Amino acid sequence: MKVTIAADHGGFELKKFIMDWLSVKGFEVSDSGNFVFDEKDDYPDYTIKACKNLISGNSDKAIVICGSGVGACVTANKIKGIRASVCHDSYSAHQGVEHDAMNVLCLGARIIGTELAKEIVTAFLNARFIEEERFIRRLNKIKELDK
Ligand code: RB5
Repeated sequence: MKVTIAADHGGFELKKFIMDWLSVKGFEVSDSGNFVFDEKDDYPDYTIKACKNLISGNSDKAIVICGSGVGACVTANKIKGIRASVCHDSYSAHQGVEHDAMNVLCLGARIIGTELAKEIVTAFLNARFIEEERFIRRLNKIKELDK
């Protein structure tokens, strides 16, 4: 599975940690920036890059990180085809994919530690959308908003 990860200064260290860990686990991980620590950078720039990598098919899922996860999430959900959420528990991270076809996981590096982040990312990446009529029906209603 191809995963792209982005972060601003608030999530820079956690991005590095998750990228290294996913690479060791055998995931194809791409970096959507920021590539250097810059305390003046803006989370929309990297969130948009990660989401575009996802929409263009260069990645199967995306993880975007900022200080709280909120700014990245607000940004991501403005982009057509993106279904993003902040998840700081593993249940939401897998149920969001299974029921809601969430394709972008947003994390707040100032809120959670590395071990919890690993559990949440694992739940998100292992989950698959469940193709039940009720979930497809709801997804189609969300997709209408993209038109
Ligand atoms: C940056 O300092 C911080 O505001 C940003 O990373 C994020 O938390 C926004 O939601």
